[in-house]
Amino acid sequence: WGKEGHYMVCKIAEQYLTAEASELVTELLPADAGGDLASVCSWADEVRFRFRWSAPLHYANTPGVCNFNYARDCHNSHGEKDMCVVGAINNYTAQLQTYGDPSSPYDLSESLMFLAHFMGDVHQPLHVGFADDEGGNTIIVHWYRRKTNLHHVWDVNIIETAMKDFYNNDLNTMIEAINMNITDEWSDEVNQWETCRGESITCPNKYASESIQLACDYAYKDVDQDSTLEDDYFFSRYPIVEKRIAQAGMRLATLLNGLFSSKSAAK
Ligand code: ADE
Ligand code: ZN
Ligand code: ZN
Repeated sequence: WGKEGHYMVCKIAEQYLTAEASELVTELLPADAGGDLASVCSWADEVRFRFRWSAPLHYANTPGVCNFNYARDCHNSHGEKDMCVVGAINNYTAQLQTYGDPSSPYDLSESLMFLAHFMGDVHQPLHVGFADDEGGNTIIVHWYRRKTNLHHVWDVNIIETAMKDFYNNDLNTMIEAINMNITDEWSDEVNQWETCRGESITCPNKYASESIQLACDYAYKDVDQDSTLEDDYFFSRYPIVEKRIAQAGMRLATLLNGLFSSKSAAK
C-alpha cells in the first residue's frame, strides 16, 4: 500500500488495542511518533533504500500460480529463505516476544514499525503476486486517463479515487466508513478474521494465500498490458480494498494484544 493505505490499517488497529497493548506500543514507539502508531506505519517504506536487505520483505511472489507455498515462494532474489513478507511477519513477531527480557538484542521499536507495516502489505493482494510481472509492477495500464501500472492501482489509485468520489477527499471519513462496516456489514466475519488454526498468535501464511487468491480473482482478472481501467473495474474492486484494509487493521490489533497483554499483567 501507499501512505494512505498503511495509515488506515494502523488507525484501525489502534482502536482495537487493549489498554495494556496500547501503553506498550506507546512505550516502544520512537519519541517523535507522539504515541501514534499510524504516524510510523510507512517508516518501512522510507528505509527501503537505506536498508537494502529489507526491500524483498514487503512482498512475496509465486511462479504464476494462484496459491502461496512458503517453502517455494518465501525467498529473496538470491534464494535466501524466509526473506519475504510472510517470513518478515514471523521474524518481527518473534523479536517482539522478547519484550521485557533485558538481554533481548533487538531494537524493538524497529521491530514494531516493521511488523505494523508488513501486516498491511501482506493484505494488499498484489503484494503476493506473480514473479513474472513483479506483482503487477510491469503491467502498464491507464487508470481512467492517467498512465500507471497495475500494482500502483492497488497500492494507491483505488484508494485515491474512493476518497475523492465517496469521502470528500478526507482520510478520516474513509476510516470511519470502514469502521462502520467492521461493526455492521462484516461483524459476523470479524471473529474468523482474527483466529488462526492451532494456537498460533498470527497466521501470515493464511493472509498471503488469501492475497494471491484475490490477486487472481480480482486484481489480474480481465487486465492486460495497456488495458484502460475505469468505473467497471473501480466499482467491483474497491470493496475488496476496503475489506483488506479492515482485515489488516483488525489482525494487527489482535496480534499486538496477544503479544503485549499477558506481558504487562506479569510485570
Ligand atoms: N517487486 C517484485 N515483486 C513485487 C511485489 N509483488 N510487490 C511489490 N514489489 C515487488
Ligand atoms: Zn506495493
Ligand atoms: Zn511496503
